[in-house]
Amino acid sequence: MKTNKLENLDKLRIVSKAGENGPKLYIETYGCQMNVADSEVVAAIMTNKGYSISENMEDANIILVNTCSIRENAEQKVRQRLNDYKKHKKKDKDLLIGVIGCMAERLKTKLLEEEKLVDMVVGPDAYRDLPKLVEEAGSGQQAINVLLSREETYADINPVRLGKNNVSAFVSIMRGCDKMCAYCVVPFTRGRERSRDPYTIVREVNDLIAKGYKEVTLLGQNVDSYIWKDEENNQAINFAGLLEMVAKTSSNLRVRYSTSHPKDMTDEVLYTMAKYDNICKNIHLPVQSGNNRVLENMHRGYTREWYMDRIRAIRKILPNCALSSDFIAGFCDETEEEHKETLSLMKWVEYDFAYMFKYSERPNTFAHRKLKDNVPEEIKTRRLTEIIDLQNKLSLKSNKKDIGKTFEVLVEGVSKKSNERLFGRNSQNKVIVFDKGKAKTGDYVNVKVLECTSATLKGSIV
Ligand code: SAH
Ligand code: SF4
Ligand code: F3S
Repeated sequence: MKTNKLENLDKLRIVSKAGENGPKLYIETYGCQMNVADSEVVAAIMTNKGYSISENMEDANIILVNTCSIRENAEQKVRQRLNDYKKHKKKDKDLLIGVIGCMAERLKTKLLEEEKLVDMVVGPDAYRDLPKLVEEAGSGQQAINVLLSREETYADINPVRLGKNNVSAFVSIMRGCDKMCAYCVVPFTRGRERSRDPYTIVREVNDLIAKGYKEVTLLGQNVDSYIWKDEENNQAINFAGLLEMVAKTSSNLRVRYSTSHPKDMTDEVLYTMAKYDNICKNIHLPVQSGNNRVLENMHRGYTREWYMDRIRAIRKILPNCALSSDFIAGFCDETEEEHKETLSLMKWVEYDFAYMFKYSERPNTFAHRKLKDNVPEEIKTRRLTEIIDLQNKLSLKSNKKDIGKTFEVLVEGVSKKSNERLFGRNSQNKVIVFDKGKAKTGDYVNVKVLECTSATLKGSIV
């Protein structure tokens, strides 16, 4: 999932804001945007029970690490981090360490056996049980709940925002995934797909607006299969319907979403995006591969031609829409010719942005059970490099086209490189850096693009 260029979230770490009194909880988050949103649900559940959120692990009584299993290196990163916590625990015997999220779900009791100093293992659908599990762990038992649910959406919980800016927030609209792509661990770690009550989504969005937020990103692994049966009003609300409900909350609120699925993305969603100026013109439509045989082996449910048809529909209905994608290099049996078809599709689409990965075999997935991870590591690496090099060129080309254009930018904060500069994004989700003038975080400003790199646009306020 993505949009905030956060998709490559193995890197993401959110450190929470300091709270008041009570036992102190420190949460660190790895993985996708969904995990970022979940950590905010966890923060809400725990602060409701009197815990306060701490910014540094040194003064925490409990450390929770929200984890990702998507690729092997995502798990390795967490294992390394656990070593840091353990060092800490050796100094502070009462410190409790909990592993939550996708790794907890995937490894279950194994995690308690392998990582001796871990006290709690809690899966993504069991967060309401956290206060009880913490109590159990506090009394010296190892505590675990990894039950998956068909209903849990945490719909009634108002997340405690942990992000640094009060401008942009994630709102979870569904959980789980029923797609069963051959390579993917998500259906196992997140369970069955279920949609959240749209009225609770709108309530959360209104609450964010009241707090001054200017942008929401609606999150689901496959937002296009969102469906809510509204029995009271005898209607079904699909993703286009939900998007419209959220867009209507305030014309001053930007609405983004992630992730679309090529098989399920409808023209109705595209027309809804066209109808509302405040729905941002950027679609993340992961293709994974440009070759039909590989796509079939991946169980993606569409062909190259089908995907190209979806891109044509976007170009027609939303001429100014940016496009991004995910790619997997070196999936089982992928030949050189098949890899080249990924490159040719990239050139045809001219993506503005992409997340690119080497295939990483995940235990118990279809690909692990039935296919051979037989593309040698060096070849995977070389193919990935070719994909990245090409995307850098495409991103630069796309950015160069923006020079001379003026965009409305929502200011997100001060540029990392200079206090005199601010950064924000345009509707197309491109980052723009500019001299701050009188603008401040949370403002909408018009910025004319003057120069660019493949990663950023630079400009000045007009
Ligand atoms: N639901 C989203 C993606 C979630 S995971 C979707 O279907 O698009 C984000 C990305 O991680 C995927 O799009 C895919 O490109 C990548 N990914 C998933 N499993 C992987 C694996 N086993 N090895 C390498 N990359 C993987
Ligand atoms: Fe994984 Fe496929 Fe579901 Fe995306 S759609 S989360 S890649 S199974
Ligand atoms: Fe997200 Fe990683 Fe889980 S990508 S759904 S945190 S496996």
